Amino acid sequence: MKGLILSGGKGTRLRPLTYTSAKQLVPVANKPVLFYGIEALAAAGIREIGIVVGDTQAEIRAAVGDGSAWGVTVTYIEQDAPRGLAHAVLISERFIDGEPFVMYLGDNLLNKGITRFTEEFMRERPAAQILLAHVPDPQMFGVAELSDGRVVRLIEKPKEPKSDLALVGVYMFSAAVFESVKRIKPSFRDELEITDAIQDLIDRGLEVRPHIVDGWWKDTGKLEDMLEANRLILDTIERDIQGCVDAESRVEGKVIIQKGAVVERSVVRGPVIIGAGARIVHAYVGPFTSIATGAEIRDSEIEHSIVLEGSVISDLANRVEDSLIGKNVRIYRLPVKPSAYRFMLGDNSEVGIRW
Ligand code: G1P
Repeated sequence: MKGLILSGGKGTRLRPLTYTSAKQLVPVANKPVLFYGIEALAAAGIREIGIVVGDTQAEIRAAVGDGSAWGVTVTYIEQDAPRGLAHAVLISERFIDGEPFVMYLGDNLLNKGITRFTEEFMRERPAAQILLAHVPDPQMFGVAELSDGRVVRLIEKPKEPKSDLALVGVYMFSAAVFESVKRIKPSFRDELEITDAIQDLIDRGLEVRPHIVDGWWKDTGKLEDMLEANRLILDTIERDIQGCVDAESRVEGKVIIQKGAVVERSVVRGPVIIGAGARIVHAYVGPFTSIATGAEIRDSEIEHSIVLEGSVISDLANRVEDSLIGKNVRIYRLPVKPSAYRFMLGDNSEVGIRW
């Protein structure tokens, strides 16, 4: 069985971060989302992985390399523009070479991995196996209509969803899917939809096995989802303090402080991860926060947030919450009059001041 990870796309819902960085490389608990997917495939025993890349390919290639860090071999497949998930399958036909495969969307996270699904798929050998999850906003996803446990219809982003079962971004296919991806036409958003290709398999009378996932699943395409994924992953960490914590600091609960990180005169209340070389000085870092390598929190409070590499937050009067701060950002307060906000923000940035 082979693996196909989709790691193209523009990530418009995560701008401005995605102007300079691939959405799949935004870290959750200090690890790029994409790496969780590679790990899930490797854990399922898959050794050959194709990664479909687009505009951000240089960055993806630099981060993943040849896959040897995970004991897999990675082949990069270039997609000239985001023409849809089924188009990504279409251009991967040579790489897949007739084998069954798992397609994994590079911005998806599944807490219990995929091993039991791939095992079932290889045992039963349907044309396709799809994973479904109950969601509150099905119109944002591909939606499945089931009857007596069988899939009767799949619709991409339906205006009036017939169920609350969203298609999770992890699919298992036999080579039968190639005929379907060649038969379908572009959708309302001018993409070849994998949802339509799977519907075509059903229309051809082939078996599409549904599976409702019991653990959590997250598509990390938006800020809220990113923060929730961060919360869910941090909930699973074990305490591990390798950095330096001074005697005046309190580190409570599940906290990872990586080598070379420094915590001084601060309170860190887990679950929290603090990356190598980060500095927490006279600060409060509250639950569900990930502070990346080399970031600094000084004389400030932060909670339920993600701070990326090299960013500095200092001297703020109010706590930072529910925030995703990119790389090398500086947020600070100057004790001068008149008091005012002073911003230099990139396009599509967002600042929320809670009063
Ligand atoms: C894609 C699929 C959709 C699926 C979702 C899962 O949506 O088209 O059917 O439910 O991934 O993450 P997109 O992220 O392209 O909007």
